[in-house]
Amino acid sequence: MRKAVIAGNWKMHMTCEETRVFAAAFRPLIEDLPADRQVVIAPPFTSIPTLSRHLAGAGVSVAAQNVHWEEKGAYTGMISAAMLVEHGVSHAIVGHSEPRKYYSETDEQINLRARTAQRHGLIPILCVGESLDQRESSETERVIHRQIEQGLHAVDPSSLIVAYEPIWAIGTGKTCAAEEANRICGLIRGWVGHDDVIVQYGGSVTPATIDDLMGQSDIDGVLVGGASLDPLSFGRIANYQAPAG
Ligand code: PGA
Repeated sequence: MRKAVIAGNWKMHMTCEETRVFAAAFRPLIEDLPADRQVVIAPPFTSIPTLSRHLAGAGVSVAAQNVHWEEKGAYTGMISAAMLVEHGVSHAIVGHSEPRKYYSETDEQINLRARTAQRHGLIPILCVGESLDQRESSETERVIHRQIEQGLHAVDPSSLIVAYEPIWAIGTGKTCAAEEANRICGLIRGWVGHDDVIVQYGGSVTPATIDDLMGQSDIDGVLVGGASLDPLSFGRIANYQAPAG
């Protein structure tokens, strides 16, 4: 039985003070969370210690929004896996569409990031997904298959999360229909070739769409951007109620 992973990606939001306020409001909302799910939050690097301290004992795992592939060195602005592990970080997002787009990250670099993360005991959350153009020209499957194949070269699938994040659904308010997201998540599971891999959906997930998404057979969790910044809405998402069956 795969344990659902409900992850928040705060992107470049939340100062330490805002993180403290979030944690105080969020903690009581996840006190009675069912045992079938795990909550992960990826704050900006500077807010990691504040989040860990203020949610200590609340069962929330802390993720990094990226990790460099080298152990150390002259890489201004980057962060190493060892630096994250030292702060109790357990997961690292790699291959998110924003660094792919703004910093031209390649599948090869993303693969190196995932492998370095695993070497340090971090669970990579590999993001994959097609653009609107690619979807409209029927390239969705080909693009995602390539991202999986190249991104996961020599990556251990037993310690891995893959997030299907159609680029056209990120930050746009357009959620992918639950059945279509489920279909792609099922394909991803097959391409990864490991039945127990956690496959998430991400892209404009809200309290209004979460129950339907989590009711799908191949969606094992969500990666949430905007709606994870508000404790009430992320609390509702974490407390999703999937229809029985
Ligand atoms: P969104 O972002 O929920 O704001 O669409 C999702 C993501 O980028 O992971």
